[in-house]
Amino acid sequence: MIVAPSLLSADFARLADDVEMLERSRAQWLHCDVMDGVFVPNISFGFPVIKAVAALTDKPLDVHLMIVDPGRYVGQVRDAGAMMMNVHYEACTHLHRTIQSIHGAGMKAAVTLNPATPVALLRDIIQDLDMVLLMSVNPGFGGQSFIRHTLDKIRELRQLISLAGSDTLIEVDGGINRATGAECVQAGADVLVAGSAVFGAQDPEAEIAALATL
Ligand code: DX5
Ligand code: ZN
Repeated sequence: MIVAPSLLSADFARLADDVEMLERSRAQWLHCDVMDGVFVPNISFGFPVIKAVAALTDKPLDVHLMIVDPGRYVGQVRDAGAMMMNVHYEACTHLHRTIQSIHGAGMKAAVTLNPATPVALLRDIIQDLDMVLLMSVNPGFGGQSFIRHTLDKIRELRQLISLAGSDTLIEVDGGINRATGAECVQAGADVLVAGSAVFGAQDPEAEIAALATL
């Protein structure tokens, strides 16, 4: 399993220490949650913080943009050091163009679906996507509980991907811990994002290792 701990639950006053812990851990990617206070009812951090994190780690950054019109920021996301740029389906009027421009900037492209957005809407774009992120909570906050219907969406997305003959990864984000993570893996997920389960654990490195071996 690819584990991508979410920095949203890190200690921002000691971010370098937390990134150093992630660097030692079995986490493969670092998940960065950008919120604009418009697309979601919360504000987190932006490009200067991502740039500072990128300077402290060799691990790829998975940048999840919970912002309106994310296509306007492709250059800034690339310059901040992202490997993967995640845009919400609900925030893009011209999704195909946005995906093309993410690829044109040399990044991997992912589309994120809110809990109420059907997987079937991706049928005509799935071939172009490196990853689909299924939100298993309503975006905006860490520490919420896992929406169980996500398991059906993972299975449906797995089918859509194999029908298309594509190698798109499936990532799940929100309320992931050892129990819900195991269910996601069984349903067909490739990447688990975890915030509070990792940073709220007594031993965050051990928690990451447990998720990585699910
Ligand atoms: C929620 C963010 C998540 C968040 C997950 O809007 O996209 O990445 O950090 O936090 P947990 O794992 O605590 O649900
Ligand atoms: Zn996220």
